[in-house]
Amino acid sequence: MVAGVPASRRAVLRGAVLAGAVGAAGVGLTACGGAGGSADRPAGPVELGAATDVPVGGAKLYRDDKVVVSQPAQGTFKAFSAVCTHQGCVVDSVDGTTVSCPCHGSRFDALTGAVVQGPATRPLPAVAVKETGGTLTAGPAA
Ligand code: FES
Repeated sequence: MVAGVPASRRAVLRGAVLAGAVGAAGVGLTACGGAGGSADRPAGPVELGAATDVPVGGAKLYRDDKVVVSQPAQGTFKAFSAVCTHQGCVVDSVDGTTVSCPCHGSRFDALTGAVVQGPATRPLPAVAVKETGGTLTAGPAA
């Protein structure tokens, strides 16, 4: 209760406090809320689909699964988190073996995870990947 403030004014104040709390909680849920954390790669094995979808000498982005997979040589696959190490946006495009982040322009090498262009300074974390019977699976215990 706010002493000396009319009831209608108190209701407005209470509403403003609640709106501020909701707004602050919403900020923590955005895709760019921060780097790292446990959601930057699959928590368990994720079936990605046909291995032939990944071009030899190129890469394919599985944006919904937050994984990018490259195939440096026929039958050899590498996978990395698709979550940008700058501020946590998910990369959104692949050009050859270079993946790009839409938020601030960082670019990464899908063969190594290395930063090609900042502002990101840390490489994309590697993710386990395997091909079984022509199907790719990525993530822990893959
Ligand atoms: S979050 Fe990717 S460049 Fe900033």
